[in-house]
Amino acid sequence: MTSLKHSFNRRQWLRMGAAGAASALVPASWPKLHAAEAAGANGCDTGTAFTLPLFVPGMDGEGGRLVLGRDPIVLKAATNGSALAFSATMDARRFANPTLATSTGATVQIALDNTLPEPTVVHWHGLAVDTRNDGNGETLVQPGAQFRYEFAVRNRGGLYWYHPHPHGSTARQVAGGLFGLMDVDDEEQRALRQALELTPGDTELTLVLQDRRAGDANRYAPAPEDELYGWYGCLPHVNGVLRPFHRVTARRYRLRILNASNARTYRLALRRDNGSTLPLLLLGTDGGLLERPVACTELLVSPAERIDVLADFGSTSAGDFVILESRAFDPMQAVTNVPPATAADGKSGEHGHDSLRTTGSLPDGAPFALMQFRIGGPRGANPPVPSRLSRMPQAHANADESRPLRLGFAKGRWRINDRVYDPAATPIEVPRGARETWLLRNYHASAPHAMHLHGFQFHVLERETSPDFLAGLAVDAKGRLPTDLGLKDTVLVWPGESVRIAIDFRHPFAESQMYLLHCHNLEHEDAGMMLRVHVG
Ligand code: C2O
Ligand code: CU
Ligand code: CU
Repeated sequence: MTSLKHSFNRRQWLRMGAAGAASALVPASWPKLHAAEAAGANGCDTGTAFTLPLFVPGMDGEGGRLVLGRDPIVLKAATNGSALAFSATMDARRFANPTLATSTGATVQIALDNTLPEPTVVHWHGLAVDTRNDGNGETLVQPGAQFRYEFAVRNRGGLYWYHPHPHGSTARQVAGGLFGLMDVDDEEQRALRQALELTPGDTELTLVLQDRRAGDANRYAPAPEDELYGWYGCLPHVNGVLRPFHRVTARRYRLRILNASNARTYRLALRRDNGSTLPLLLLGTDGGLLERPVACTELLVSPAERIDVLADFGSTSAGDFVILESRAFDPMQAVTNVPPATAADGKSGEHGHDSLRTTGSLPDGAPFALMQFRIGGPRGANPPVPSRLSRMPQAHANADESRPLRLGFAKGRWRINDRVYDPAATPIEVPRGARETWLLRNYHASAPHAMHLHGFQFHVLERETSPDFLAGLAVDAKGRLPTDLGLKDTVLVWPGESVRIAIDFRHPFAESQMYLLHCHNLEHEDAGMMLRVHVG
């Protein structure tokens, strides 16, 4: 297929150099709002006042939509005080963490310019690229250096994202703000927008969820318990704003949501002011649109997962409020062999979530409000939802053998098959052209692990021995959740649970390729809960 030789021409790169110079700094407005600064005395205001408007990215600035064209762009990793951002310029428009817009079949040319005082690298989360372009961290871009990505977009339309991947520093760089969305368009996406009369930025919103800590406490300095369980912030932000509100009209809205949090899982639901739950329609997942919409009332979204949902405000009236909230769940975090620093707080670790005493934090599984929708304005047209959304590739027939991958904790570290990441070892060898099934089995005294595979989207075939509350949300006899019906690149595996997935490893690259399987709880990942996957 696409040759990955560098075909950038000299004129293009010269132009890039010039553009790059003009965007030496991220826009002065970055970060737009650290509403955290305004929070309560302990910095952890868990109130429910929605006083700030939702930030909706436009055609420039923070999260602005940057349409990738024929010419390469420069993405500059830069610091601005304690915040980090990718900056870019195009046609005199300046961006911070741009939403990179492209479409299936396009060729993307992006130069990463590292102006940080430390190495970094960009990984295109969810994209089916070769190792050279995957940015898996085994090759780093040193301070002052540039790296040129060039790849064909082989994925279906959907919401993907990009973030740094330097092993050991990924969590700190992402928490610092270095990440952005990648919006891949295709026929099916266009058809959906047309059928539902959706306007991006208006009736179609992208919502990026990230929990932060207040002010100085948000500077990434994990305590031992944070390193073990993950970096949890007590201030849930949506598009960089703490508990925002947004005005909508009484019609359907498409919400495309990314969980960009280091460690937190959200149990998302919409609650009306009379206390009832507003039903949702799941349209898509990590790897694009579902075959048909799936009705549900709540959705679990673990770190790095994306959901594409339709919220119907058509049954509400002007003056009503609807709250996007994360509902309570038992995070089941428990380790049998807690390191001394955590054991010191006097808990045995048998009920590990009780020992999660993250400084000023909202523990994983605690309920909170994320944002408020205020219904107003005229009741507009509300076209019906198409019954068919896409043609999803089918899962291959269940192979007789599954590759076992055991998730657990030993000798102070989270592990996969008792191993931690070793850049010199390749524990998973996949023969060329293979279609495999993998069995992800999480030990009962563990933590939920958001397992992510680079380079491939997969199907979730079944869940077994799931926690009770999860079984209650299942949509079929295989224990699958609504999001399991779509293509996935990240799947949450609960303590005691087994999740079987099917992966089609066929790829068009002439050479064999190296990818990664890891937990997307970034503290788990940085501590080595990651294995190399060699695909022939
Ligand atoms: Cu989004 Cu290797 O990760
Ligand atoms: Cu990835
Ligand atoms: Cu994990």
